[in-house]
Amino acid sequence: MRTKQTILNEFDCVLPAKSVNEGVARALVGAFLLQMDPTVEDLSDLKCATSEAVTNAVVHGYRRREGDGGAEGRILLSVAILPDRVVRVTVKDKGCGIEDVARARTPLFTTDPAGERSGMGFSVMEAFTDRLSVRSRPGRGTKVTFYKKMK
Ligand SMILES: Nc1ncnc2c1ncn2[C@@H]1O[C@H](COP(=O)(O)OP(=O)(O)OP(=O)(O)O)[C@@H](O)[C@H]1O
Ligand SMILES: [Mg+2]
Repeated sequence: MRTKQTILNEFDCVLPAKSVNEGVARALVGAFLLQMDPTVEDLSDLKCATSEAVTNAVVHGYRRREGDGGAEGRILLSVAILPDRVVRVTVKDKGCGIEDVARARTPLFTTDPAGERSGMGFSVMEAFTDRLSVRSRPGRGTKVTFYKKMK
């Protein structure tokens, strides 16, 4: 059993899975974390990692819904400030899910059929944060969580 983490401040929002919201999520995370007086580098790392996770939800998680006339998928973005200047970001979708998470996290692995993607999103998230966890169930969705201790 895990004890519940103390949250000093937090921010949750729901965004429709539109590519314009990749930048919106980036800006929201940046604005919320200004209260910590972060370094430019820490802030930029978290913004980049967030935008990779949101981009994945838009382009992969909800890819099957594109143009099907149905309701757009929703992405839940949640940012928490934990003790000791640790930030936790969670990006959750209820999209198609990932069959093999270990394989998906391998650098250069992509399922993009058009070849526009480089398969580096998870590697970027790993490089820019201290810990990355990816939980996914095919047909149910994906939850990406990362932590970073700020200077
Ligand atoms: N939220 C998600 N839902 C479903 N599949 C996902 C999701 N996020 C990632 N994936 C799968 O994991 C693969 C690897 O993701 P990653 O971000 O590393 O690379 P990419 O998105 O293909 O390319 P890049 O991020 O460099 O543009 C994706 O190609 C996709 O198959
Ligand atoms: Mg990606």
